[in-house]
Order: sequence, then structure tokens, then C-alpha cells
Amino acid sequence: MQNNIFSGLFVGQNLVTLKEVDSTNTFLKNILSNSKPVPDGTVIMAERQFAGRGQRNNTWHAEPGKNLTFSILLRPSFLSASQQFYLTCAVSMGVYDALYPLLRDSLKIKWPNDIYFDDSKLGGMLIENILQGSQIKHSVIGIGLNVNQEVFAPDAVNATSIKKILQKDYELKNILAEICNHIEGYYLHLKAGRLEFVRNMYLSRLYWLNEVRQFKSNGHIFEGTIINVKENGLLVVKQQNGEQEYNLKEIEFLNK
Ligand code: BTN
Repeated sequence: MQNNIFSGLFVGQNLVTLKEVDSTNTFLKNILSNSKPVPDGTVIMAERQFAGRGQRNNTWHAEPGKNLTFSILLRPSFLSASQQFYLTCAVSMGVYDALYPLLRDSLKIKWPNDIYFDDSKLGGMLIENILQGSQIKHSVIGIGLNVNQEVFAPDAVNATSIKKILQKDYELKNILAEICNHIEGYYLHLKAGRLEFVRNMYLSRLYWLNEVRQFKSNGHIFEGTIINVKENGLLVVKQQNGEQEYNLKEIEFLNK
């Protein structure tokens, strides 16, 4: 489908909107494995997901019709498996830049790829890479963004939405188009070999960067300062006893 709010070359040019699906990531992975041709940059968007998936095996809940829940197909065959984190940086920065005109400097990226407004979570992503040998064959990039939802489940303590912040409803397709256009921009930077530019942009937008904060790891609570995210995506936290590196399952951020 050709439509003018998607001003990029390919991300979002083939947009499939579903009323209801288990998970847009699962749906996209299924159509890929049925070996039907799926154009690069295809976006599968759902009004309602009944089995939305999040990181760390969590579920993703979003009030139907009020939020963005979609997945993008990319084929970054120019990236090796060990460079997967650069894609996380590109997608996070694409979402960030799309929302920046609305939300300005309170917007942050919480490592590895949550979208935060101050200390509240606006959205997140689940990037599932399908590898072929040492290269990335397909990348299924699932993004959930809270847009017009006003009430959240009591256990979603730090969830927020654009509507909660700005007291206004937003057209989902317009925000989707902005996100797709910006992700394409960063993706093309990666394709042109500007990997470190993209990682540095990501680092400059990082939540809690260079701030003394509390964390928990292995049942132990400590103070530390995020000083870097390495090329392989590991979080580097400086503590009294030196620098430690963590993967996603190894560290928790403790908000006051
Ligand atoms: C997280 O923060 O835990 C990641 C949430 C990712 C949710 C999105 S919604 C669209 C896509 N389909 C899914 O099942 N998950 C992702």
C-alpha cells in the first residue's frame, strides 16, 4: 500500500492492520516461516492483541484501539549476530526521535530498550532476530507504545501514556508513520556502516546515564553509576569496587 504519511522508502509501505491477533510478533514470524514473500519493512499492526508478549517472558497488555501494538520486518543481513545490539539502538532512537517533538527532554531510553517519560514507562520493544549462520536473516521488531490509554492495571505501577502526559488524544496512524520514518533513517545509518554514530546517539539519550543510583543484582542492593553500554549490549555500571557488566536478566533498576 502506498500512502503519503509514510514518507520513507520501505518501512511501513506495506502496512497490514489486523482487528485482533495473539501477538503481532508471533503473526509476523508465522508468515515468514510459511515462506510467503514478505516485503522488507512490512508492518503488522493490531487493534487488539490477546497474547501480547514482552521482554523477560512477560505479557504485554494494552487497551484495544487506544495504543500502538505493531511489528516491523527488517532484513539486516549486513549485521552479524554479534552486532544485534546496534539494531536495538537504531529502533530505540527511531521511536525516541518520533516522540521527541511531543515530549521533549523528559523522554529517555531505559536500557536496553524501554521508552521512558521521567520515571514512567511509555512503551517497550521486543526484537526477535532470526539468525542464519553468523548473520541476521530476519528481524521482527515488536513495539508497544501507550498512546491514548488513561487507566492502567494496578500492577502496572509506573506505566504512562502520551494522553496521560499531554491530556490529548493522538491519531495512532500518524504516530506510527513518524516512528517508521525515523526507524528507517537510523536503519539506513547502520546500513551505511555508521554503527558507532547510532550507538552514541542511543547513549546520549540513556535514562540514568552518569547518575548515582540504586540497583539490585543477585539479591544485593548497591549504588552505582551507568557509564556505558557496550557494543554487545552489556550495561556497564561503576561501583565502589570497580566496573561491572550486566545482561538483561542480571540487574534491576531500583526507583525510589
Ligand atoms: C516490553 O517492554 O516488555 C516489550 C513490549 C513489547 C510489546 C510489543 S506490542 C507489539 C509486539 N507484539 C508483541 O507480542 N509484543 C510486541
